[in-house]
Order: sequence, then C-alpha cells, then structure tokens
Amino acid sequence: MEKLVSSWFNNKTLPQSYIFPPETRPGNHIIPRSNAIPVIDLGNASAHDRTLVVQQILKASQEFGFFQVINHGVSEDLMNDTMNVFKEFFELPAEDKADLYSEEFNRPCKLYTSSANYDGDKVHLWRDSLRHPCHPLEECIKIWPQKPTRYREIVAAYSIEAKKLGSRILDLISEGLGLDLGYFGDKLSESVVISVNHYPPCPDPSLTLGIAKHCDPSLLTILLQGDVFGLQVLNDSKWIGVEPLHNAFVVNIGHQLEVVSNNRLKGAEHRVVTNSTVARTTAAIFLNPSEDCIVEPAKSLIRADESPAYRAFKFKEFLYNYVTMGGNSEKSLEPFKLHG
Ligand code: OGA
Ligand code: NI
Repeated sequence: MEKLVSSWFNNKTLPQSYIFPPETRPGNHIIPRSNAIPVIDLGNASAHDRTLVVQQILKASQEFGFFQVINHGVSEDLMNDTMNVFKEFFELPAEDKADLYSEEFNRPCKLYTSSANYDGDKVHLWRDSLRHPCHPLEECIKIWPQKPTRYREIVAAYSIEAKKLGSRILDLISEGLGLDLGYFGDKLSESVVISVNHYPPCPDPSLTLGIAKHCDPSLLTILLQGDVFGLQVLNDSKWIGVEPLHNAFVVNIGHQLEVVSNNRLKGAEHRVVTNSTVARTTAAIFLNPSEDCIVEPAKSLIRADESPAYRAFKFKEFLYNYVTMGGNSEKSLEPFKLHG
C-alpha cells in the first residue's frame, strides 16, 4: 500500500526507479494536445447518416485506430457522477482502501500501482489503478469497493451504459466491414473489465510515463478521459495528443479487432504522459472476448487472393502471451501470425 504513488508523491523528487531510458521518455519537447483524432457524432440516426457514421468510424479505425464519439447517448450526469466517484475513491483515507490493495496477479478486484507486476518492472509507471470485472453484474458487484457509498450504484449504471455504447459501436464496425449483424455481440465482447487510472501530479513529467507505449489487449476500449490532457497516440511514427473533449468518449481498437478484421483495422499504440500541476483520473472499459472464446480473422473477410494473417487462438492463450511479453505491442501477436 505504501507503494501507491498517491501515498508518497508529495514534495518528493522523482525516484530513480521511475526514470525511463532516453529513447522512451517523453522528454522536454511537449507534444501539444491536438484535434487530429477524428470526432464522430453518433447522434445522427437517419439511414443516410448511419452510412456516413459507419464510413467515418471505419476510416478513423484504419488510419488512427482511435476516435472520439459525441452525442453517444450516455447522460452527462452519469458521466460526471462516475468521474466524481472515481476521484473520491482515490481520495479516501488509506485505511478505507487497504483491503483492496493487492500485488497478486489474478485477484479480480484490486488496487495496485504501476503495472500488474511491480517487482518485475524495469521502470515503474507513475500511476495507481483500480481494476475489476463488470459483467455479469449481479455476480461481480459483490467484490467492488464499498466506499464511497454510492460507488456500486453509480459504477453499475455506468458500466451497463458503457457496454451498450461499445456494442453499438461494434455493430457499426461490423456493418462497415461487411460482417453479419451481431458478429461481435456474443462471446467476442462478453467480458467487461474496468480499469480506473489515477495519475498524481509528477515532479518531472519529462522523465517518466503514466503508462508506457502499448496497444490494448481488448477487442474495443471505451475511455472516459475527463478534462485533463495526458493521452498520446502513435501515428506515422509521431505522437499525437488526444484533446480532452467535454462529454466525449475516446474509443480505440484493441489487438482482438486487429485480428478479427485481418489487419483492416489498426490497434494503435498509445501512452500516457504525466503533468506537474493536477491529478488526472481516467476510466477505461475494456470489451474483451471470454477466456475460452476462439479469436480468428473473420472468414468472410478473407478474399480469394488473400490468406489469413493469424491462426485461430483462445483469448486466454493471447492474454498469457501478452502478459509474458510485458504488453510489448510487436511481440503480443507474434506467436499467432501466419507468414505466407
Ligand atoms: C489504458 C490506457 C489511457 C489513459 O488504460 O489502457 O491507455 O488516458 N489509458 O488513461
Ligand atoms: Ni490503453
């Protein structure tokens, strides 16, 4: 528990164990927030506009692997309540969080710091994180935090809405790819996990990272980023800052969608930089396949002159390799690639 950045960071200089090597640290050149990542209006409901929205999502998913959505149907009140309850969680006194702290890899609901393997880290990450499953709700809500008192009620409502939004976006993606309606609806997106990240103000943002460069292991990720900047996406070997937009969600393509789409969609690499003035809290909802779900390139997407880029695998096989490779984006899919 003393390892949590939020429990010791005040008035300290950056410890050596948080300093990234020169090639991977952000450095003094501050990458500005930018409007390059497409913002897609989901409020357009008519048939004509639906086609347009599908095209916008596909284009953004091919070019960036990232987009933001507005008019997405999740209420502003629920988004604000959710962000506030997460901030309140991290502000609770240590004794109210102690039971949740764990360095055990497989503990389903846990508060931890840096990565899932603190002792194995080459460099520690400047973040604390609360992580737990959200589906099926009746079963997993019992292991969620009990404080703040409204945590369970608010996060239950939020996770249902976020999953609905994710499913809607997956339907638009399957339409754009030409897959059967509901292709992603069942096992491929059955598991829902939330990861709440808390990045305290940092004494030297040029030397460290909140999260190092990675691509999400998920099918699709829906991020509530709040109004503090910190997320950067790698595009054409350049980092692009993702502008925090009020009431928007950031959506990104995970490794599993890269596989199912046979590389038509891009699972983009991203990272989180820190800042020296304000704490930043974000919440990522990962829509994941169930552990035994078979993931493979969709057969209808393989043209006659093409071959599948990946062999079929169970999601848990992928996860095992992802963790072993420490989230390294090039190596995570390597054992499943078909060359030829
Ligand atoms: C993640 C992630 C981005 C952020 O949790 O995988 O990339 O801005 N988070 O917190
Ligand atoms: Ni991520």
